[in-house]
Amino acid sequence: MSWGVFDSGVGGLTVVRALREALPGVRLAYLGDTARVPYGIRSVETVRRYAAEAARFFARDGVRGLIVACNTASAVALDVFEEVFPGKVLGVVEPGVEEAVAATRGGPIGVIGTPATIRSDAYGTRIRERLPGVGVISVACPLFVPLAEEGWTRGEVPRLVAEHYLAPMIEARIDTLVLGCTHYPLLKPVLREVLGEGVRLVDSAEAVARAAARLGIGAGETGGGERFSVTDAGGSFREVAARFLGREIPVLETVHLGPAA
Ligand code: DGL
Repeated sequence: MSWGVFDSGVGGLTVVRALREALPGVRLAYLGDTARVPYGIRSVETVRRYAAEAARFFARDGVRGLIVACNTASAVALDVFEEVFPGKVLGVVEPGVEEAVAATRGGPIGVIGTPATIRSDAYGTRIRERLPGVGVISVACPLFVPLAEEGWTRGEVPRLVAEHYLAPMIEARIDTLVLGCTHYPLLKPVLREVLGEGVRLVDSAEAVARAAARLGIGAGETGGGERFSVTDAGGSFREVAARFLGREIPVLETVHLGPAA
């Protein structure tokens, strides 16, 4: 039986990549809701409705549990997945928070994510619960998503965008930055260039993979194996996916979500 990996689109493949490195034997079933991406600019109600439909899809599919790779869905709808898979859901926010709290040397801590993730303050709330009094500076970086998908991850354009978004963090001298979105690992070199070597970068994809290993997900499994499904395989999905995953997707299935599915 597989573990489901859910994302709003292609970005969650950074999580599959990290999971594969941490847990080579685990069997994964990826679902990207490419027909309705991006989630990060939508309302909480809409993301929760989409999450409920995805959870029902995974239940029909018979997965053992879920890794919610999408930061937006983890931030505003983790409980929706929990209702369908009680005690069997791992989101990206909590592992990212844990690593940020361990990495900081007193803060402030920066958090970047989609507008919905930042508006929810899911990271900020949990960081402050663990480290009362620590400064948290949260900034939504919506342009990073299309830049990563277009492959504009190096050079002047992403650097200028990053300088603009990160200006308040540079000014506040953050010591740690949480990359609270599936797409941001691709922008690490440019973030590093803009912030300098002194700032620790917390990659929520790597953090969730380490948390999955600690929780024993896939322990004892040796076969590996992956299935990839999307709700719309049009456009340049395969090409973009290969960049996020680091290799080609062998077989891609198109599935339908929604109440009538
Ligand atoms: N997967 C989303 C996230 O990590 C980014 C793309 C979107 O907005 O749907 O928040």
